[in-house]
Amino acid sequence: MKIRMPSLRGANIIGTGSAVPERILTNFDLEKMVDTSNEWIVERTGIRERHIADEGITTSDLAGEAALKALEDADMTVGELDLIIVATVTPDTIFPSCACAVQREIKAKNAAAFDISAGCTGFVYALSLAGDLISTGRYNNVLVIGAEILSRIVDWHDRNTCVLFGDGAGAVVMNPSAPGEGIIECVLKSDGSLSDVLLLPAGGSKIPASFETVKSKLHYIHMKGNLVYRHAVRVMVEGAEEVLEKAGLKKEDIDYIIPHQANQRLIDLAAERFGAHDKVYSNIDRYGNTSAASIPIALDEASRLGKLKDGDIVLLVGFGAGFTWGAALLKWCDK
Ligand code: ACO
Repeated sequence: MKIRMPSLRGANIIGTGSAVPERILTNFDLEKMVDTSNEWIVERTGIRERHIADEGITTSDLAGEAALKALEDADMTVGELDLIIVATVTPDTIFPSCACAVQREIKAKNAAAFDISAGCTGFVYALSLAGDLISTGRYNNVLVIGAEILSRIVDWHDRNTCVLFGDGAGAVVMNPSAPGEGIIECVLKSDGSLSDVLLLPAGGSKIPASFETVKSKLHYIHMKGNLVYRHAVRVMVEGAEEVLEKAGLKKEDIDYIIPHQANQRLIDLAAERFGAHDKVYSNIDRYGNTSAASIPIALDEASRLGKLKDGDIVLLVGFGAGFTWGAALLKWCDK
């Protein structure tokens, strides 16, 4: 018997897409809802406005729209997809997965589909996994999506959190490439002992939904903002340094850094400590923190603006609930 062994190959991004709801909520709108000011929000976070989904729109709706744009950009048909991975903390339902809802939405009949839960690092986790599944020969045409409707789990009376988040989705289509083209290296990390710095306390097996949990607002995002800030700056720098070291590259080799868009101050501080401030791409002013969607939305925007050139080295780096963090180093290759 001859067993066919998979050969290692590269995994490249051949298309990107993104989608955000039409409705925009500005800081001035928020001034009328909670005790805050445009000045405070801009100074502490860099956010000016965010997109908010109207009632009836689901995470899979935004994910599906982003996916179809990415497929068009990749010049690939839906039927060619053999795997869909969705990173999200706001799936349409706890189960079945958001990826299966996307599959239904875009009619990707030939694909397997599942979700990844790694908070705002979800897209980096999903991209890394997709890369490995392509490299081993297990899958060929993989759709990787980060999508969120965070506005549904935000307490709109809590000024500490409601000013930070927005809704949206970003997607990439990946397929096999020559080794070294596309994903060069990834680092995925987590520290479960920090699970209480950022969480949605109720609705799972630990604290099932009840009248009491609703009354106590346990179905909203709970965040120790200062702790998140402190850990985030540290792990973003560590993640970036580690992925570079693994790849045998130096800071100077990087052309673009696309970090998780959580807070402009945090991005600036991490970039300053890392020593590559001028290479950072940021769009947080227009979208707020869209969690797992933030990196692929920014990647799609940078790509469509023609900022990413063939051969550019691009660093994606993020952190999120879990606590999780991770980095992916890409060689951007025009398909
Ligand atoms: N408007 C006006 N005042 C506010 C607001 C607001 N929206 N929010 C908080 N304040 C007040 C606080 O009540 C506090 O007042 P006090 O001194 O009278 O008690 C004061 O501002 C300072 O509060 P801090 O929490 O110390 O403000 P800080 O400068 O740390 O900024 C922030 C808060 C923006 C949340 C910051 O800590 C942060 O960005 N942390 C990281 C958050 C983050 O990245 N979360 C990610 C979530 S999901 C993810 O991406 C993993």
